[in-house]
Amino acid sequence: MFGKRLVLASALFVGYVAVLALGQAVTPALPCTEAVLAENCTLPDCRCSGIDIPGNLTVATTPQLVFLTFDDAVAIQNIDFYREVLYNRKNPNNHNITATFFINHEYNNYALAHELYRLGHDIALHSMSHNPLTPYWANLNQSMWRAEVVDQRQQMATLARIPVADVKGFRAPFLQTGGDVMYSVLQEGGFQWECSRPTLNFRKPGIWPYTNDYRSTQDCQIQPCPVGEYKGFWTVPMIDMLGDNNEGCAMVDTCTPVPETADETYDLLLKNFNDHYTTNKAPFGIFTHAAWMNGADDEGLASRKIGYARFLDFLATKEDVYIVSISRAIEWIKTPTPVAELADFVPFQVPVKPDDCTVVRNCYYAAEQTPFPTERYMTVCDACPAVYPWLGNPLGVS
Ligand SMILES: *[C@@H]1O[C@H](CO)[C@@H](O)[C@H](O)[C@H]1NC(C)=O
Ligand SMILES: *[C@@H]1O[C@H](CO)[C@@H](O)[C@H](O)[C@H]1NC(C)=O
Ligand SMILES: *[C@@H]1O[C@H](CO)[C@@H](O)[C@H](O)[C@H]1NC(C)=O
Ligand SMILES: *[C@@H]1O[C@H](CO)[C@@H](O)[C@H](O)[C@H]1NC(C)=O
Ligand SMILES: [Zn+2]
Repeated sequence: MFGKRLVLASALFVGYVAVLALGQAVTPALPCTEAVLAENCTLPDCRCSGIDIPGNLTVATTPQLVFLTFDDAVAIQNIDFYREVLYNRKNPNNHNITATFFINHEYNNYALAHELYRLGHDIALHSMSHNPLTPYWANLNQSMWRAEVVDQRQQMATLARIPVADVKGFRAPFLQTGGDVMYSVLQEGGFQWECSRPTLNFRKPGIWPYTNDYRSTQDCQIQPCPVGEYKGFWTVPMIDMLGDNNEGCAMVDTCTPVPETADETYDLLLKNFNDHYTTNKAPFGIFTHAAWMNGADDEGLASRKIGYARFLDFLATKEDVYIVSISRAIEWIKTPTPVAELADFVPFQVPVKPDDCTVVRNCYYAAEQTPFPTERYMTVCDACPAVYPWLGNPLGVS
C-alpha cells in the first residue's frame, strides 16, 4: 500500500508537545555539541545525526551501501518476483546480496518469510494490523503500539520460526510514525532501528543513519517526530529520491511521473544513486513494494522490473557497492571498515541458515474464528494456531 505524503513546515513542529502517557511529557534530547561528540557520543554505541562519513573515512575508502526494501506481506503472489530479481546476486565479497522486508501480518505467508530469513535477508516488521487510517498510527497509545509491534515479533518468531533476536527493525505503515510514543515502545521492546522518516533537506549529501542519544537535526516531513532521547536506538532516514518532476519521493513507487519503460526506470534509479555515490556515499535506499514491478501481463510493471534488474546488474559492476540489509549496514556503521578490508567483514558474509520450517501448514479460519466478517487463510511453520492471530492474541490461542 502506498504511503500518502503529508508535508508540513517544520515551523509547525515547534508547537508540538510530546506526551507518552496521560500527563507524562517527554524530556527533549540534548543537542549534539562539539563537546558531546568529543566526550560522549562515539561509535559503536552512539552517532549524532549528520552527513559526516562514519569513522571519518574518506569517500574513496567508503563502500556505497544500497538498501533494497519491500513492504507488506510476503505471499505466493510476490515470492517468485523476489526469487527472480534478488536471488543469486553477489556483492564484491562474493557473498549473496541481502534485502530488507517490512512484513505485516495480514495475508503474510510465514513459510515464505522463513525462506527469505534463511537466505540472509532481513525480516523487519510493519505492524500486525496495517490499519489503513493514518490518524490511527499518529495517535496510538503505548499499549497498542506494543500489541502492534512487540507482539508481532513474537508472532513472527512463532509462525515463521525466526528467533526474536533476529527481528530488529520496523517501518510504520504509510510512514506514519507515532513519534515519541512509537520510539519509546520500540526501544523498550528491544528493537534496534526503525526506517520510516523521509528527509528532503538532507538528500545531497545524504544524512547517515544515527542513534537518538542526542537531538536529531533531521527534518520532520510527517508529524509527529520523536523529540526524546532513545539511547542506542537507530533512525535509518529515508532519503528522498527526486522524480523527473523534481519532487521528493520517499518510496520510489510514489515518484512521478511513474516510469513506464525499462530505460526510464533505470535512469530514475541511476540519477538518484549518483546523488549519493558522487557525494558522501550515504546509504542509497530503493524503498518500494513488489507491486510496483510485479505482474508479467502488465507492460508497465514488467518494464519496471527489467529496468530495476538492469540497475542491480550495473551495481554489480562496482567494486565499492554493497547491497546489504539494513541490520547488516548498521553493523558497518558501528564499525566503519574501508572497502579494501571488506572481504573479511563478518556482517557482510551470508551463510545459509538451516531450514527450520520443514513442516508447512495451510490454515483455514471460518469467520467466527476471526475478528472479521469473513474467513481467513494463513500459511505457517509447524502448527496452525487455534484461532486467527490478531491484536491482543498474537499467537491465536483459543
Ligand atoms: C558526558 O557525560 C557525562 C556523564 O553523563 C556528563 O557528566 C558530561 O557532562 C557529559 N558531557 C557533555 C559534553 O555532554
Ligand atoms: C578526520 O580526518 C581529518 C583529516 O584527516 C582530521 O583532520 C580530523 O581530525 C579527523 N576527525 C576525527 C574526529 O577523527
Ligand atoms: C545464495 O543465494 C542462493 C539463492 O538465493 C542460494 O541458493 C545459495 O545457497 C546462496 N549461497 C550462499 C553461499 O549463501
Ligand atoms: C490504549 O488504547 C486502547 C484502544 O483505544 C484503549 O482500550 C486502552 O485503554 C488505551 N490504554 C491506555 C493506557 O490509555
Ligand atoms: Zn505497508
